[in-house]
Amino acid sequence: MHAAGEEERKGGNGMVIRKPPMGFNTWNTFGNRIDEKLIVESADAMIATGLKDAGYEYLVIDDCWSKYERDPESGKIIPDPDKFPRGMRAVSDYVHSKGLKFGMYSCNGVRTCADYPGSYDHEFLDAQTFAEYGVDYLKYDNCYRPESADQKMLYRRMGMALRATGRDIVFSACNWGQNDVWSWIRSTGAHLYRSTGDIFDTPESYRMIARSQMDKLSASAPGCFNDMDMLTVGMYGKGLVGSTGCNDADYRSQFALWCMFSCPLMLGCDIRYMNEATRQLVTNRELIAIDQDEEARPPIFLQGEGETDRIYAFKFLENGDYALGLFNLSEEDRDFNVLFNDTGLAASAGYALALTNVFEGSNGGVHKEHLRVHVPSHDCVVYRARLVRP
Ligand code: GLA
Repeated sequence: MHAAGEEERKGGNGMVIRKPPMGFNTWNTFGNRIDEKLIVESADAMIATGLKDAGYEYLVIDDCWSKYERDPESGKIIPDPDKFPRGMRAVSDYVHSKGLKFGMYSCNGVRTCADYPGSYDHEFLDAQTFAEYGVDYLKYDNCYRPESADQKMLYRRMGMALRATGRDIVFSACNWGQNDVWSWIRSTGAHLYRSTGDIFDTPESYRMIARSQMDKLSASAPGCFNDMDMLTVGMYGKGLVGSTGCNDADYRSQFALWCMFSCPLMLGCDIRYMNEATRQLVTNRELIAIDQDEEARPPIFLQGEGETDRIYAFKFLENGDYALGLFNLSEEDRDFNVLFNDTGLAASAGYALALTNVFEGSNGGVHKEHLRVHVPSHDCVVYRARLVRP
């Protein structure tokens, strides 16, 4: 016996994501300069460079994919025929044929941030359209929202519209951290929440973003993760959010911070032309394992209060190991002194920590009570640690 209307119940096919998604998003580098060729080549690059093997799965088209106006008869958003002459289903099919997942973008206001049609008051129609395209991930932005419309309600509405399609679609809410987003967004069905304004490819930008979330990470957990924006790793100042660019030490720090904070790893560089340093960094399996740790516990921060240019992050991992990330955000090389007592490891317990350096893949030795590490300016050192009896 079914209750009346039960066959109409949609969504709830199980948890859509358990871990922070990994993939590529077009915005940081390409902005408006997107088309089918870019998506096809990026999908191919995800395979050829080993990104897919390392866990990168979602290929997401950001803003600027549609015509400027909806179809007057159906009311649907229409793909820009110059950019996507075969329509979005063909693009989606290609992405899926590579074993990847396909993502797209819309906005809770009447227009998107780049002034294309937004989904306000068209949520259920648009969600259905995305489902017909075979979309697996929707980034949902926050521009041109009518003053009278409640932001929380609009995220709920799209959350429900996506579930009503019956398709598993990652709902990536992007309200830039407004209204203490971490405190309510989980209730809207969102799987991700952008917690800050847009990233730029400068050291100051990724540092500011990371620092701003240090006291809010306990709200990020399986089912709904804190999204600190697409990575600028490997951009070296090129592309839309390019700005001054960063050096390789900064990119190591940015990537490792995102991993220590269990954030989505959405690449924003041109993945077709990554250099070897970038490729190795973003496919570092030890770092990715820290990011993708099933429990996604927030790190403990060990630096002194008010200390802003050093981050000591210590994270409990699901298999009983720990991760230790030491970040030097200053302009000078610094020594970091980690007192294990601060991690919870009482000296009287008689344990030591056996360390593996995750960048070098090298043995970091066995240490009792404390660890002293030299960290160059802008750089970081990250260890995986295990309790041992010395
Ligand atoms: C906002 C978002 C960005 C990007 C642009 C697109 O600024 O925060 O990530 O999606 O809109 O216009």
